[in-house]
Amino acid sequence: MTSPESISYINRHILEKIDNFQPGATGIILGSGLGEAITRLDECTELSYSDIPGFPESTVKGHGGKLFYGFMDGTPVMVFSGRFHLYEGYSAAEACTPVRVMGELGIGRIFITNAAGALNPQFDAGDLMLITDHINFTGCSPLSGPNHEKWGVRFPDMSRVYCKELCSTAIEAAKTVSVRLERGVYVQVSGPNLETPAETRMFRTLGADAVGMSTAIEAIAAVHMGIKVMGIACLTNKNLPDCMAETTHEAVIEQAAKSSAAMSALIREIISRQD
Ligand code: HPA
Repeated sequence: MTSPESISYINRHILEKIDNFQPGATGIILGSGLGEAITRLDECTELSYSDIPGFPESTVKGHGGKLFYGFMDGTPVMVFSGRFHLYEGYSAAEACTPVRVMGELGIGRIFITNAAGALNPQFDAGDLMLITDHINFTGCSPLSGPNHEKWGVRFPDMSRVYCKELCSTAIEAAKTVSVRLERGVYVQVSGPNLETPAETRMFRTLGADAVGMSTAIEAIAAVHMGIKVMGIACLTNKNLPDCMAETTHEAVIEQAAKSSAAMSALIREIISRQD
């Protein structure tokens, strides 16, 4: 069970290792195959998830399972490379442990990245998509169970999950670094199976532009804590009902790795624009 007490326990250990931690830091969660996106941090402290007592372990190939803390062009950044998924058997609340850790440490904005299938026929594999809104199609919420008032209210508003200012900054930053940045709605499914053509058709009809197995629940937990959220999906495959190609996890990881440099350049530029 995730609670302020269990997160404080984890954070005591993290802070012991990161003695130069600054609460104003920006937090980043890196998705499948994107582990290389943010590696060049100055004064970097690196911790394996398995060395953090009380922290879950990521079990998926292609998910690094490491926490990095350091400075990007002078700005303090905490990076979670590898996340926890519902399909690994974690509850939604457990899957959001990195968000709760960052919230308790006083991190005020989180950039969430993921690998996703493109539902919008105009989008291509290899494109990045700024998440403007989401559909949580998992059937669960990280806020189920007793509400921790210290973290947020029982019924948090979700009318603007993805911070407008951060979205504008991302759009401007993408132009500066010449990265094509699509915009759209992300639907989170619980996975681990990919979608049937009928499901893909349904998600498109519901208004989604990309589908993946993370992010929406993390964004909900962040908004619950009053943390500003930005989300960028790395579109690794086209997921179109009438010309559906076979999708493998290996191909997803490979495509995400190819987009890592663009993701990294974009995030660096966005961070350089923060005050
Ligand atoms: N569906 C769900 N999750 C994904 C996909 C997809 O097509 N691609 C990458 N993650």
